[in-house]
Amino acid sequence: MSERKQTTDDRNENSQRTTGEYDGLRNGRSGHETGTEGRREREGGDGRARATGDALVEINELRKIYDPDGAHVTAVEDLDLDIGDNEFVTVLGPSGCGKSTLMECIAGYLEPTEGEVLVNGDPVAGPDPSRGVVFQSNRLFPWKTIGQNARFGPQMRNAVDDDRIQQLLDDTGLTGFEDSYPHELSGGMQQRAELVRLLANDPDIMLMDEPFSGLDAMTKELMQEMLLDIWEEEDRTVLFITHDVAEAIFLADRVVVMTARPGQIKDVIDVDIGRPRDSSVLTSEAFNEYQERASDLIHDEAERAMEQKQQETQEA
Ligand SMILES: Nc1ncnc2c1ncn2[C@@H]1O[C@H](COP(=O)(O)OP(=O)(O)OP(=O)(O)O)[C@@H](O)[C@H]1O
Ligand SMILES: [Mg+2]
Repeated sequence: MSERKQTTDDRNENSQRTTGEYDGLRNGRSGHETGTEGRREREGGDGRARATGDALVEINELRKIYDPDGAHVTAVEDLDLDIGDNEFVTVLGPSGCGKSTLMECIAGYLEPTEGEVLVNGDPVAGPDPSRGVVFQSNRLFPWKTIGQNARFGPQMRNAVDDDRIQQLLDDTGLTGFEDSYPHELSGGMQQRAELVRLLANDPDIMLMDEPFSGLDAMTKELMQEMLLDIWEEEDRTVLFITHDVAEAIFLADRVVVMTARPGQIKDVIDVDIGRPRDSSVLTSEAFNEYQERASDLIHDEAERAMEQKQQETQEA
């Protein structure tokens, strides 16, 4: 059995019936109120955001062990990471290295086996709308329209702001599709609707688990640019998971490269490419250098991950 607090399939059900997803509402939306100009400054590549102010997210010696039927899988081990306010951090790692586990510990869907996750200095005790999540698979309610999906989270908190939702639909090119159901939209449009759903909740921290992985290259590029535009305008903190090297660099202030399972931080790359960024960055020399460095780092880990997978298949 899964150790997750709610199974992933439960979540839509629970949120539909109750405000369960928002139980444990505890941390205030203080991230933007702390006056943290300059928090993106940091030093060293040891995985810590050396910020002039306090870190918004602080992960200390995180370990997560899954133990279904005594299998004892260590997904994440001894992971230390700080994320500064307004920072855009991408996490790059091979398949099965613990990326989603890390994200779900920050989101509050999973409890660490050891170590802690602090947000604004408080331990994460459960999910909270100030930490918005885009899960690895699309989580729009299929029986609700795009407009209803966008309104659902704010309705749970009695905080529907129609102007804001309209603005988000405009920004993501979804105006006119408010009354459409998810299955009536293309994959790219569904991902945009996910973004609207996320932003409608006005989260301080956006936790995004490979949100663009199923999209074709061109749509993906447009989505990345759109996300950066929104992030630059709205001062949010983003943790974005991907296994796409170019995507990780294009978006990030820092790229956290993870090892194969058990997931630890292998290295952290500070991406010193100016903003705003658009796709022209992708052909720059600096970008290529970052890409080479990240690819080198990830290559051995991807091989290890593949060997692990083969071994597991043989043992099964
Ligand atoms: N509920 C669970 N029970 C048992 N093992 C699990 C559970 N969830 C994840 N794992 C295992 O923990 C490891 C890390 O999983 P996780 O989903 O965090 O990896 P990931 O890096 O997100 O992978 P992917 O790139 O494929 O999405 C994997 O070996 C996975 O099989
Ligand atoms: Mg994952």
